[in-house]
Amino acid sequence: MDQSSRTTDQRVLVLDFGSQYSRLIARRVREQNVYCEIVRHDISLERVQAHAPRGLIFSGGPNSVYDEGAPRCDPALLRMGLPVLGICYGMQLVCDALGGRVESTPAREYGRARCHFTKQDPLLSGLPGEMQVWMSHGDQVSSVSDDFTPLGNTETCPLAAVRHHELPIYGLQFHPEVSHTPQGDVILRNFLRDVCGCEGTWKLGDFAEEAVEIIRRQVGSARVICGLSGGVDSSVTAALLYRAIGSQLSCILVDNGLLRKGESEAVIKEFTQHFKTDLHVVDAKDRFMQALAGVTEPQEKRTRIGHAFIDCFRQEAVDIVDANFLAQGTLYPDVIESGAATDGPAATIKLHHNVGGLPDELGFELIEPLRDLFKDEVRKLGEALGLPTDYVWRHPFPGPGLAVRCLGEVTDDRLVILREADAIVVEEIKAAGLYRQTSQAFAVLLPVRSVGVMGDSRTYENAVAVRCVDTDDFMTADWSHLPYEVLASISTRLINEVQGVNRVCYDISSKPPATIEWE
Ligand code: XMP
Repeated sequence: MDQSSRTTDQRVLVLDFGSQYSRLIARRVREQNVYCEIVRHDISLERVQAHAPRGLIFSGGPNSVYDEGAPRCDPALLRMGLPVLGICYGMQLVCDALGGRVESTPAREYGRARCHFTKQDPLLSGLPGEMQVWMSHGDQVSSVSDDFTPLGNTETCPLAAVRHHELPIYGLQFHPEVSHTPQGDVILRNFLRDVCGCEGTWKLGDFAEEAVEIIRRQVGSARVICGLSGGVDSSVTAALLYRAIGSQLSCILVDNGLLRKGESEAVIKEFTQHFKTDLHVVDAKDRFMQALAGVTEPQEKRTRIGHAFIDCFRQEAVDIVDANFLAQGTLYPDVIESGAATDGPAATIKLHHNVGGLPDELGFELIEPLRDLFKDEVRKLGEALGLPTDYVWRHPFPGPGLAVRCLGEVTDDRLVILREADAIVVEEIKAAGLYRQTSQAFAVLLPVRSVGVMGDSRTYENAVAVRCVDTDDFMTADWSHLPYEVLASISTRLINEVQGVNRVCYDISSKPPATIEWE
């Protein structure tokens, strides 16, 4: 590749101070067609110079700048003359380092606020004088040194946006990266284009090219094993690897007994149409059911499933010569919610089976080419790699499969009920023409039974929850406002057709505070 024309040359670094939103910032930057990488908050001046970025963005974070051990950056980064945008904690850090003061607010401010802009500035170009912003902070900057000019305020935050007089350094107390700051993209675009001078020529296809190069270098002439689940993530991972190393790729489909109805047949059909490389189908139903016997605790289920997967891969790999690498379709939300992001102290929400559930002594070197991407970016990448649109837009299905939707103990009998229920929910959503409009729809088998009446008899049977959500990135989600008629037909079919179900509930919780899956 011609090094001089690489669109990643105009890059921006996001310094991660532990915010759940760090990747979201990165993604918003990439949406502006500017390449961006997330780095540790304590990256050295020399490492930053080696990246030769056009600008730096300091993320938010859960700490107070005065906390003992609070994450800080090398102060020399603020004297390089590089554009810096500090967001929330990032702003507090910058202002504190340059002579300002940070204080805790009497009441934590969380939610929407109106920001009034008081000065014209390239960062704010194209914005109205007042706009909605999203706040989420306990501390705020209470005073700045004379080097700073206030640019905007909200009712409770007098310094909601500031800039340095001489250096291209900005601070925002609100979060321009979240969708609740509807014009946040304008601010980021202004920062990237007008303050940092990036032209915005990077595209996701470049990501594929670079990933292919990296994979080739990493793998050499060895073989890579890739677990296929039929989900978008593992299919796109396989497609990327196939492009990089062709027949050095061996895919393994573990039929763990936790798949959807007809899933393993569908994956095999799709795979053989698109890839001319070997596929191993492992029947591991018994192994997984044994691992899950008697287990009801969600994290324990995930850990056991993670271990069982690795055991299957290991066993299958014995016959595959030079299988030194294991590829996984781990995405950014899996990493952040498992608390496993390398750069920040984010909280553990769930141990995603392919992140927190891995045994220490893996025995393979991991390849996770999608680790920095969000679901919708992966889908676009899948299309760019030539996977069929219908396949790429399938609703996601979690790696631990039906186990995390079968609340309580996972048994064969309960899986039969859940598998049938799941198929009906998806069929009805498709029949109503809502499959592409919704992001994920499924059934959850609850660990409760309730009394009902069927014919003239009393029943005492299972309750099923229907979950259907709308989301772009699966980090936040709203429950889908399905028409009553669709809910009615789902309910009628579930109760009439699935033996053992006599009650259906619709889950109307958003994420946060709930998550999409129930476990
Ligand atoms: P939650 O439940 O965390 O789910 O809001 C967000 C998205 O991730 C999927 N999910 C998983 N995917 N392994 C996966 O491959 C997992 O362990 C896992 N847990 C949740 C979930 O279906 C949703 O799309």
